[in-house]
Amino acid sequence: MQRVTSINELNAELDAVRERGLEIAFVPTMGALHEGHLSLINEARRHTPFVVVSIFVNPLQFGAGEDFEKYPRTIEEDTAKLEDIGVSVLFTPTVNDLYRGNMNVSESAGHIGALYEGAARPDHFDGMLTVVAKLFEAVRPKYAVFGAKDAQQVFLVKQMAAQKFPELEIVVAPTVREANGLALSSRNRYLSEADHKVAEQISAALRIGQATSSTPQAAIESARTQMAKVPEAKLDYIALVDADTFEAVTDGFTGRAILLIAAVVGETRLIDNIEITF
Ligand code: PAJ
Repeated sequence: MQRVTSINELNAELDAVRERGLEIAFVPTMGALHEGHLSLINEARRHTPFVVVSIFVNPLQFGAGEDFEKYPRTIEEDTAKLEDIGVSVLFTPTVNDLYRGNMNVSESAGHIGALYEGAARPDHFDGMLTVVAKLFEAVRPKYAVFGAKDAQQVFLVKQMAAQKFPELEIVVAPTVREANGLALSSRNRYLSEADHKVAEQISAALRIGQATSSTPQAAIESARTQMAKVPEAKLDYIALVDADTFEAVTDGFTGRAILLIAAVVGETRLIDNIEITF
């Protein structure tokens, strides 16, 4: 594995790869790697053997009072995991190299970007799209792999990529969970043991919603009833959206929908979702 820390070095590495006619798959991350991230790398490898992983904690997608400073940075463990799984290039740019002194947002997440996670975290999605666009420009991959765990992120990245990177294929990989259902997340390490038990109920509520999905309203109500049993989880929203448009669905809807839950457990904001077909 080559580790490169600047766009110049990255170009030197990847130009040679492109000249050999190899396609590149890209997995952007913020590090603190877990099995969920590694599953994206395995998915990337199903498309092409040449996989680039980035680790960059993007200041632009964290709001004031969020956890940018304390976000886990575990580069040594991460590097060992990536060596183990066998990726081709690890790209760890500095803020200066990626932003070149211009820390303005260059992408707009539009009206869907202001809903759900965007309502709770203003500017988050503009900042996320800005860095993802910069990374796509630097890596110029044929495939980029994202986790279904962050459903709204996936929707917005696909929307942006369709506009700006029409040749790029966005690949979505399923959510990796603990045996108890809790979706893996770098932020789970903030949870105490008691928080962890509470957090497990988020995925339980999603499964109950999926199991009682005679109508959209029934799915939402049963998930809500389940969440009400764990008041320690401060519910932010439960929503059911059309998987293709991210618009809220109402009774009578047919097709693929996503049931979304966001809740704060202890000090930690957690999100999860499940797909339901009506
Ligand atoms: P990060 O939270 O590190 O996540 C990197 C990728 O891993 C995302 O595509 C995310 O959806 C995926 N992922 C996280 N947990 C997962 C799980 N349990 N199962 C499957 N995939 C999972 O998302 C970001 O970083 C950033 O916003 C980024 C896209 C890197 C831009 O800064």
